[in-house]
Amino acid sequence: MFLADRFSDYELMFAGGGDKFERWGEYYLKRPDPQAVWPADAGADHEAWPEPHAVYHRSDSGGGSWSTRIALPRKWKISYPAIGGRLVFYIEPTGFKHTGLFPEQSVNWDFLGEMIQSAKKRERPIRILNLFAYTGGATLAAAVAGATEIVHVDASKGMIARAKENVIASGLESSYIRFIAEDCGRFVDREIRRNRQYDGIIMDPPAYGRGPSGELWKIEDALYPLVKKCSELLSDQPLFFILNSYATALSPLATENIIGLTISKRFGGHVTSGELGIPASRMNVILPCGSTVRWTPEG
Ligand SMILES: C[S@@+](CC[C@H](N)C(=O)[O-])C[C@H]1O[C@@H](n2cnc3c(N)ncnc32)[C@H](O)[C@@H]1O
Repeated sequence: MFLADRFSDYELMFAGGGDKFERWGEYYLKRPDPQAVWPADAGADHEAWPEPHAVYHRSDSGGGSWSTRIALPRKWKISYPAIGGRLVFYIEPTGFKHTGLFPEQSVNWDFLGEMIQSAKKRERPIRILNLFAYTGGATLAAAVAGATEIVHVDASKGMIARAKENVIASGLESSYIRFIAEDCGRFVDREIRRNRQYDGIIMDPPAYGRGPSGELWKIEDALYPLVKKCSELLSDQPLFFILNSYATALSPLATENIIGLTISKRFGGHVTSGELGIPASRMNVILPCGSTVRWTPEG
């Protein structure tokens, strides 16, 4: 398991009854989590749950909305002590129960930060590709660790705008980051035609999604072809390949097999996989938060 336990501005306090209760900076949010399948008062004093500042309610017609107890700011900042420096992210609760940050990804930010910093000691330029890059957690982590160039690809212009805000909030404007609003499959095809190469690739594809021109993404059909194409984009001395997934239908072993049949087939190397987890601070549980497969040239 990969445990995300280095955040201080973020805290998972309790989980249960289909909900999780979190502190984001100075604000407490309660929102649904399908993995919190034990009762809310199991193993925790339910009375001790503080009053949340905002609660996300699911609607029967799909989607949902936040109800707030105080005038919650539209967005606020939290920080993370990444490898190489402090990152700052805007937190903005959305109509989709999300906040603009997946804190469990911090274990992957630390991993890629360490890989980049140790490669930097060998004084080589480091080019990183971040696919399905959302609000830029991995992009910022690569930049602060010292990557020479980062290419950030996401279908959503709104998410790209939020990633740019996070770059500025983190004081990383001088890093060389290219933001591309495009379907990841199309972008990878084009990069292969241009003979572009990357030393590290990270991707966090959704179970289901659409590119900007309506291109359909279904993880069970599209993942293997995309990872295979990405293996063609890796340089002669690649540092890492990270594949994260929140798709509950896909086991870590299934994604590990995809990496084995593509990246390891071309480069050999070493693969590790596991669930991501966040330990709750006020009860004795670790909340599962998706899974990650990591490839490195050495074990
Ligand atoms: C699960 S989120 C990634 C979370 C991110 N790794 C993080 O830790 O912050 C998935 C992202 O994929 C994007 N997306 C979905 N389908 C896409 C496609 N076909 N091409 C490019 N991006 C896509 C969405 O806009 C969304 O930002």
